Parts: sequence; structure tokens; C-alpha cells
Amino acid sequence: MPREIINIQTGQAGNQIGENFWKMLLAEHGLDQSGAYHGTDPLQLARVETYFSEVNAGSVAKYVPRSVQIDLEAGVCDRIRSGPTGALFKPDTFIAGDGGAGNNWAKGFYTDGAELVDNITDVLRKQSEPCDALQGFQIIHSLGGGTGAGLGSLLLSKLREEYPDRILATFSILPSPKVSETVVEPYNALLSVHQLVENSDMTICIDNEALYDITTRALKVKSPTFDDLNSLVSQVMCGVSTSLRFPGQLNGDLRKLSLNLIPFPRLHFLAPSYAPFYDPKAQSFHRISVPDLTSALFDRKNLLVACDPRFGRYLTAATIFRGKIASREAEYTVHQLQQKNSHLFVDWIPDNVSVTLCSVPPVGQKQSATCLANTTAIQELFTRNLSQFTAMYKRKAFVHWYTEEGMDTMEFSEAESNTHDLVNEYQQYQEATADTEDVEYEHVSEIDQSVGDES
Ligand code: GTP
Ligand code: MG
Repeated sequence: MPREIINIQTGQAGNQIGENFWKMLLAEHGLDQSGAYHGTDPLQLARVETYFSEVNAGSVAKYVPRSVQIDLEAGVCDRIRSGPTGALFKPDTFIAGDGGAGNNWAKGFYTDGAELVDNITDVLRKQSEPCDALQGFQIIHSLGGGTGAGLGSLLLSKLREEYPDRILATFSILPSPKVSETVVEPYNALLSVHQLVENSDMTICIDNEALYDITTRALKVKSPTFDDLNSLVSQVMCGVSTSLRFPGQLNGDLRKLSLNLIPFPRLHFLAPSYAPFYDPKAQSFHRISVPDLTSALFDRKNLLVACDPRFGRYLTAATIFRGKIASREAEYTVHQLQQKNSHLFVDWIPDNVSVTLCSVPPVGQKQSATCLANTTAIQELFTRNLSQFTAMYKRKAFVHWYTEEGMDTMEFSEAESNTHDLVNEYQQYQEATADTEDVEYEHVSEIDQSVGDES
């Protein structure tokens, strides 16, 4: 029986990333741009219904994305509709306004977004009704603008009300001054985090700061475009969703994945890492050893959040290896790395790193590995946004744009203190393991990467 996920992409970043993600999903499942199957491996269809609904168009089966595309301005949705994958989506799943929230979170949450939200929940209901066993929803959005962040947060609270027992997951893009110059992004980001803490079950954080660094340093792109960043995001999203889309034993649905990764309900912000990064323009079919893949997963250079895991501790982590890889070798290598770096993993959650395998490699690569980590180092992401937020909020700069939409300044104060609390909770669990004689937080030791070495 299929266990369906409904995808919701909202705002510019959400839709642009979503478009890229669907293209990659098509390729992984052997589907063409009309949704017809031309693959060769039965595994490609075994669980295709997680993200696609099967419809019979004449004599051939077609697979249609279970997805809703939302924006307060029409431009991006129109572009997708008239693009190469436009015909793939059901026409009534595009919902667009004609204005845009102009980077104002309050417009997305309280005014323009609120006007559209009943329309959206109707469409979502229509998507959920034919499902056999809906696992939950995933929202793709940025936290820095008005629509993805504001309307995305509003939607999340409506979903929480209407589907209290389904999993709500988000792929959330955190803003970075390296990529965008809009001053109010830290406001929008933390107002969203405030909502995500309460209403999301699992938030996979993707940081434009890290995406920018990886594209310029590892992939050597001089001035990265959103397309360059988004290709990376889709690789990671495909990696993260592997165990949901292909048969396997571990972490086979959103609930099991979140159960294994989230020891405390508020601390559900996960940092993904991926190896090797793949440049679609330069196809590479090199084999990479399992130890190299493993050490890359725990290296800050491969992390999609600009934080340093050596400054924190892993509460939990889920690794997924794809391609021809022996499960014994993967398990052994991950175990070795953990043993040699035990100070980086909390010792009060035994077996906190899981290993999953999928024999289907990602398109264009022989092998890859993805890790979803619940690390206390992620607090760096919130502290970075918090210091920018507080600098402006101290003087109430730009706040009138939000209050003019009917928002109370109290909400800013609450978002600020909720983020403070979150950072403190991470710090508390980081130290809870501390056998202080062994751990020196000021001293950053290199991660011992000599895994697989049996001596
Ligand atoms: P409004 O336009 O304000 O109504 O909301 P929106 O949700 O459409 O805004 P947008 O998604 O453009 O949010 C702005 C933030 O998202 C900034 O931090 C941008 O750097 C980032 N962003 C915008 N488009 C993309 C994208 O395609 N990929 C990535 N990675 N980030 C993006
Ligand atoms: Mg926009």
C-alpha cells in the first residue's frame, strides 16, 4: 500500500527549488517529462507512489506529482507552467496571487496570504482524499521572504489543525547576506523559526550561506546563480528522501525517520550533508571509497548549514548510502568514525547513528551518501540570525511595515525569546554529555578521518 506524501512549494525559492527537485525525481524514477515510465529497474517503480499518483491516460500509465504550487505573485508559477515540466502538474494545483508579499512576512501570514489560505487548503484536501495512507506533507520554502516564510508558516498552522496526526516536514532555506541583500530577512527568518518550532515535526535546514560556499569552493562556480544553488538542494533532497522512495528496512517513512532523529520535540532542526557534490555539467563516474564518503558526511565542508559540527555534539544522525555498497562495510565504517570521534556524539543516546542502503544510485553518479544530523552545532545558524535580528529590533527598525499589516510588536519579542530559548536548549544538551575533563569546547580538534583503517 502506498504511503503518500503531499509536496507544497511556496514562494519564489520554494517553487524554483521544487521545479528542480521534480526534474531530478523524474530522472531517478525513470519517468519522462510527461510522467510516462521508460526505466529499466523495477525498483524505480516499487515505491514511486510516495510522491506521484498513478493515472491511466489511455493505455499507458502516467505518474503525476502530488504537489501544490503556491505564490502570491504569478511570475514564478507561470514560468513553471510554461516550462518543460509544466504539463506534468495538474492545472488546478497552481495557486497564485497577483501581487507578492514584497519581503514582508506579515503580508504572507496576516493579510494577502490569509486571503488565499482557504483556497489552498481546499486544493490540499482534494489532493489528500484519494490517498490510501497519507504520511504527511513537506513544504519547500525560503524563510527570508514574505510568501514562502509568512504564508508557509500560516499554512503549517492550518495543516497542524486539520491533520493533527500527519507528519509535517519542511525544507527551509535560511537567508544569507552572501546571496541576498534584503535587510529584513533576519526578521522574516526568525518569525518563521518561531512558528516552525511549534508546528513543524521535522525541519531540514538548508542555508544559502553554505550553498554559496560549496558552489564557489567545491564546484568552482565564480558567481553562482539560483540554478546552481538549487541543483545542489535537489541532490540533497533526493538523498534525504531516498529511504522514503525506495524499498528498504530503515527510516522507510517520515514518521520513522523523525522518530529516530528527534529526541526532543522542539529540537527538530536537522542539518543535511552530502557527498560527493555533483556538477551536472561535468559528469563523473569515479568510484569513491566508503571511508571517503563517510568522512565527507561528517566534514563541515559537506554540510548544507554553515556551522561547524566540531563545536557541537551529534544527538542523532541518519546516513544513507546509495549505489553498489556492501552494508557491512558501510556499517563498519560509520561505527569506526563514531568510535574515533566519540566526544562529538552524545553518549546518552546509544546507537544514535543509523545506516541505510539503497542500491539505486543517483542519476549521473555511481555512489553517493547523505546524512541528516541532529547536531547541537546548528545553534550557530540561529545565533547568526538572532544577532542581526536583535541589532535592528533594538531600535524597532522597519517594524512599522509589519505593524501596518496588523501584526503586534509582541510577536517580534516572542520570536526573539523563543529563538534564545532554542539556542539555550541546544547548549544545555550539548553540555549534558560533558565529562568536562575530556571535552574542551574552546579547542577545535580536527575530525579523525582515518576510518576504515583496521590497525
Ligand atoms: P515574496 O517575494 O517576498 O512575496 O516572498 P518569496 O517567498 O517569494 O521570497 P523568496 O523565496 O524570493 O525569498 C527570499 C529569500 O529566498 C532570500 O534569502 C533569497 O536569497 C532566497 N531565494 C530566492 N530564490 C531562491 C532560489 O531559487 N534558491 C535559493 N536557494 N534561495 C532563493
Ligand atoms: Mg516572491
